[in-house]
Amino acid sequence: MPPVQIKDNIYCVGAVDWDIRNFHGYSTERGTTYNNFLIVDDKVALFDTVKRPFQSEMLHNIRRIIDPAKIDYLIVNHLELDHSGSLPETVEAVKPEKIFCSTKGKEAMLEHFHRDDWPIEAVKSGDELSLGKRTVQFIETRMLHWPDSMFSYIKEDRLLISSDAFGQHWATTERFDDEVDEHELLRHAAKYFANILLPYSPLILKLIDAVTEMGLEIDMIACDHGLIWRKNPGKIIEAYAKWSKQEPAKKAVIIYDTMWSSTQTMAKAICDGLQQEGVGVKMANLEYTHRSDVLTELLDAKAIIVGSPTLNNGMLPTVADILTYIKGLRPANRIGAAFGSYGWSGEAVKNITLALEGMNIEVVDPGVKVKYVPDHEGLRPCVELGKKIGAAINESIQA
Ligand code: FEO
Repeated sequence: MPPVQIKDNIYCVGAVDWDIRNFHGYSTERGTTYNNFLIVDDKVALFDTVKRPFQSEMLHNIRRIIDPAKIDYLIVNHLELDHSGSLPETVEAVKPEKIFCSTKGKEAMLEHFHRDDWPIEAVKSGDELSLGKRTVQFIETRMLHWPDSMFSYIKEDRLLISSDAFGQHWATTERFDDEVDEHELLRHAAKYFANILLPYSPLILKLIDAVTEMGLEIDMIACDHGLIWRKNPGKIIEAYAKWSKQEPAKKAVIIYDTMWSSTQTMAKAICDGLQQEGVGVKMANLEYTHRSDVLTELLDAKAIIVGSPTLNNGMLPTVADILTYIKGLRPANRIGAAFGSYGWSGEAVKNITLALEGMNIEVVDPGVKVKYVPDHEGLRPCVELGKKIGAAINESIQA
């Protein structure tokens, strides 16, 4: 990706990763980008770096604008290695006067790179750094996405450099929101939120309130992944506020795996019952649906219904995987139930129910088990389960 000027003398100098398909368990089927930003002012500042394999590409981009040795300051908004991986090579090329990061960032930088000879200076929320015509204001954003994370706000340009927040894993040659399909952009942003930021929803709401109170004028959000928001940055802030509130819609997701199709047949009967109650349903067969796509569907779903046949006195490994993944992402205000076929022991439904309870999902039914292969009568309890969950969804949404 060539450097792209995003404001006067402010450039995106990062790289596109077309090939990445797995981002610690998140399916990045459309790749991603590592955006970082260069401001050329009386003082020259580089905000974040890129993942290490892309360091040459980033330094080449910088050289197309300015000699890297002329960079005065490195500003490290986030230490995760997709942004800081090229820091050692960058420090070597730049020999910065200062490296600014948060207090937690300083700890993390030393724990990652073990270079106490670097000129690291910790900053805190509200601290300002003058670059000449521009001022950088630092805003700590702990846990968005790591304890060290922070935003850099450029007052004079009304530009928020937002690190991981507001990003999307989507590799494109376009760099701005108005250059791509808005629906697709928001779908990628929703997937990113559901799979990375959902556990931190309460913190995001507080941050949005704090930023509103600070009265920051924002006419561009330059995030470290995906497209930069310049057409309507308020749109993604509104979406974050909505997703963070975790007020799901009249929708259920039926997540299941199946051995000899019995559990799948049950899933379809449950879907039938939900439809009879006027509830929208997404079916997620784990053989074909990646865990990160399941989470995208869960983002606005009130009910999480999980099915597995019993295998060796437990559930199928794919179902254990998705339950572990969902638990870590801490969806709130959800209801759920379990179902599954069995041959002789039949522990899967009980174990799934316990797992749902363990993640504070309100279990509205003890669950439905069917021995071996359900016939028409055997499917009746499944339809009834769907109707019962549908009624509970309708009641909770109206309440
Ligand atoms: Fe894109 Fe938390 O790193």
